[in-house]
Amino acid sequence: MSNSSALSSSCCALILAAGKGTRMHSKKPKVLHTILGEPLLGHVAGALRPLFGEAVWAVIGHEADMVRAAFAGRDLRFVEQKEQLGTGHALMVALPELKRAGMKKVLVVNGDTPLITTDALRDFMFYAEGADVSVATLTLENPGAYGRIVRQNGELRAIVEAKDFDVSFNGAATAEIYTVPSTGGRATGEINAGIYMLNLDAVEILVPKLGNENKSGEYYITDLVGMAVAEGMVVRGLSCGSDPNLLGINNPAELAASEELRRRAIVEERLAAGVAMHGPGMVRMGPYVTVEPGAELFGPCELYGHTHIASDVIIESHCVIRDSRVESGTVVHSFSHMDHAEVGPDCLVGPYARLRPGAVMERGAHMGNFVEMKKARLCEGAKANHLTYLGDAEVGARANIGAGTITCNYDGVNKYKTIIGEHAFIGSNTALVAPVTVGAEALVGAGSVITKDVPDGDLAVARGKQMNVHRK
Ligand code: UD1
Ligand code: CA
Repeated sequence: MSNSSALSSSCCALILAAGKGTRMHSKKPKVLHTILGEPLLGHVAGALRPLFGEAVWAVIGHEADMVRAAFAGRDLRFVEQKEQLGTGHALMVALPELKRAGMKKVLVVNGDTPLITTDALRDFMFYAEGADVSVATLTLENPGAYGRIVRQNGELRAIVEAKDFDVSFNGAATAEIYTVPSTGGRATGEINAGIYMLNLDAVEILVPKLGNENKSGEYYITDLVGMAVAEGMVVRGLSCGSDPNLLGINNPAELAASEELRRRAIVEERLAAGVAMHGPGMVRMGPYVTVEPGAELFGPCELYGHTHIASDVIIESHCVIRDSRVESGTVVHSFSHMDHAEVGPDCLVGPYARLRPGAVMERGAHMGNFVEMKKARLCEGAKANHLTYLGDAEVGARANIGAGTITCNYDGVNKYKTIIGEHAFIGSNTALVAPVTVGAEALVGAGSVITKDVPDGDLAVARGKQMNVHRK
């Protein structure tokens, strides 16, 4: 298949993602475990997207609703495998759906292989052109629990799952089960990477014949290889060397190893592009994060999702930033957290600032230690430097929010807005009981509980009067 036909409308991708991931020992389905903040399934879908566009299906099953929810609005098509009876069964379940959509060829990828790249997949598809069943293989020093490739005279003959592999048969064990010619068929350290290109017309004949008479009692997609050979179909195994990026993840140790591999690759790429990093070994950046050359990062720090960091931004250590934008000239001091926040140019953030979803800082705004913002805007040059909560609030340009100011936005049922005008001054330890508006240039006395609107330019004091009584 050429690159162009790979993109044709009758070729699609299918991610096998229905398994529980027993070896992760976690309630979360394996494909929702993350590498650099992105679920494994997201990494795989991301590698497939440039080749297949919208024609990416995923077979889900274990905690299917959780997976659907995590990928809402992300353009993945789902097929549900109600019972997880094996990878062959997953294909069986998806096949009618793919046929209905008019597909002729399918690239099947295990959902637990997050480091595969678009380039590697493209090469594999190019190699698979014209074959009925193709498989990508790896050669490992320790083939462990991976499916073993059986070749005869260099030709792919079968895949035998590790559990079913009996070395004493020297690979000929496949003879009865897979009808591989017993002469010379041998398994070595070559393993199945879990990436397949299948011609659906051919596979349609084989799939109904898949059995589960094996040590796991599961239907194996890998049995298709031996069956296709027996039917005289065109079968190919592309050796991809020992590329660790193609390894499947089955347990926490493998997850950690793959994450570190990816982390280092991303960091090295950004360093080469001109991003300065102190302690690059402790900088974690997701695959969709963009950092402009000239930005400066101090590890440890974590940048995830669709975060964008402009040039001449300094991110100090211990910051966690998710799906946020930080514009040029801004300094984010240590221990600050951002989630779906927008920080304009020349701002000061933190240390210990928390920007929750909808937090917006315009040019030159300051947000100091122990200040929390949620659905709140600090307009140009506004300052909230200490110990403050701003929720559902708008703070006008150059306004100053004193230490300990709280917007009381929630009455236990509903949320209300606080609006503070330009150049207003809110004294320390003020409670602003929303809905409430403090006008431009207004001044609120320290310790006030503001429940009524304050007109522009007024002074509002709302606190008990001080009384001094002689002690003796
Ligand atoms: C599989 C291959 C093995 C290969 C290895 C590569 C089979 C039988 N074996 O083994 O040859 O070396 O991958 O990493 O395929 N899944 C479903 N439905 C199911 C069962 C599994 O969708 O009923 C999904 C899982 O979510 C997972 C993928 O299929 O993403 C592979 O399943 P897994 O159980 O991890 O297979 P391995 O034992 O790793
Ligand atoms: Ca696996």
